[in-house]
Amino acid sequence: MHLYGTSGVNERGHLEIGGVDTIELIEQFGTPLYVYDVELIRERARGFKRTFEELGIPAQVAYASKAFSSIAMIQLADQEGLSLDVVSAGELYTAIKADFPTERIHFHGNNKSEEELHMALDHKIGCIVVDNFSELVLLEEICTNREQKVKILLRVTPGIEAHTHDYILTGQEDSKFGFDLINGQAEDALRQALQSEWLEVLGLHCHIGSQIFQTTGFLLAARKIIGKLDSWHGSIGYQPKVLNLGGGFGIRYTQEDDPLPASQYVEEIVREVQNLVADTDLQMPEIWIEPGRSLVGDAGVTLYKVGSEKQVPNVRKYIAVDGGMSDNIRPALYEAKYDAILANRPLDPVEETVSIAGKCCESGDMLIWDLPLPKAGRGDVLAVFCTGAYGYSMSNNYNRIPRPAVVFVENGEARLVIKRETFEDLISLDLALQEAAVTNKE
Ligand code: LLP
Repeated sequence: MHLYGTSGVNERGHLEIGGVDTIELIEQFGTPLYVYDVELIRERARGFKRTFEELGIPAQVAYASKAFSSIAMIQLADQEGLSLDVVSAGELYTAIKADFPTERIHFHGNNKSEEELHMALDHKIGCIVVDNFSELVLLEEICTNREQKVKILLRVTPGIEAHTHDYILTGQEDSKFGFDLINGQAEDALRQALQSEWLEVLGLHCHIGSQIFQTTGFLLAARKIIGKLDSWHGSIGYQPKVLNLGGGFGIRYTQEDDPLPASQYVEEIVREVQNLVADTDLQMPEIWIEPGRSLVGDAGVTLYKVGSEKQVPNVRKYIAVDGGMSDNIRPALYEAKYDAILANRPLDPVEETVSIAGKCCESGDMLIWDLPLPKAGRGDVLAVFCTGAYGYSMSNNYNRIPRPAVVFVENGEARLVIKRETFEDLISLDLALQEAAVTNKE
């Protein structure tokens, strides 16, 4: 049994997180229930920031809010002095409603709409990460009309793709994101942006992938980018203020995963950039990063009630829980692996290997294959670890299953931060045939 953060087994023999008994949590808030260990999120955030401070490098650690966005989560990111990466008007709206300081918001996305760009400009957000030429033109046009300046980063694709364990170096990276560094697009974009009276090009951004276990890919990307920046410094005289190397730092979902400590990713990246820059006429830029998963992933646990079971003789035993791909689509979508225990009796000895099925009407709705567990049955409570990133944020209403509630626990206190969806919520946007016909006529 591998426990994360403040998790432990209390005197009642139950899994507890943040000093709160998980069984009491489900009695109060029901299941499925997302539980976040707030202290662990704080620890992760402070770890990233401290490493930069110790290295004496001006930096921004921007939380990639796509991993889990909610008003309370954004407030927590603010309390910890993080910046924020948003990729849509919805994520931006959440940040604004959380009163997040807009100058620390970075706006990403490969297809920002005119409305989204106006919204970002209305709120004077910190910077827009420009992704392609059509956005560059559109933003320039909008800023000219509004007579408003904006800071931008140019997102580049350095021709490196991280496939978790290994890296593929491609000539022309086939990606929908960013300006290609190798084929000259990035340089053209920089020249074009530098001509604008309204756009201030802070520097470059790249993001090479997610759930990455080594630093090799980040170092390769830094080398490619600084090589180009050096040559542009000679040809155009451009000195970047910022180099944003994205997110993607891996976490431990199961014992098969072996991520580096966050500090090691940061240290190795910073030292590489310092060494590379030292060989050029460039000044050391600020280093920005954008962790999502590594800030919130292992701080999240999902609690489910065990329901029915099915034995397929000589094949396997299925145990079904009261959620599934509607609250965590990652196993179905990416074959993502998770570990789990029984929260109501975590210390009981393992007796059998079972596979955990969801309740959705789809054979692929399996949460965990081949999980060693004590003999479990109806009424037991399953705690699936490490569901904090891209779990709730990718949840959905397949089969019209209401999305779960989310609770923050810290220092023995539980705080409901997202209410459970109700059946009324589920139909709240539906229009009856009669109403729909009338609306159409208007
Ligand atoms: N910055 C950019 C520009 C990104 O595209 C992403 C993630 C991040 C930062 C944060 O990456 P992280 O530190 O969380 O790995 N739904 C997938 C993950 C998609 C990641 C998309 N971009 C999953 O559930 O694994």
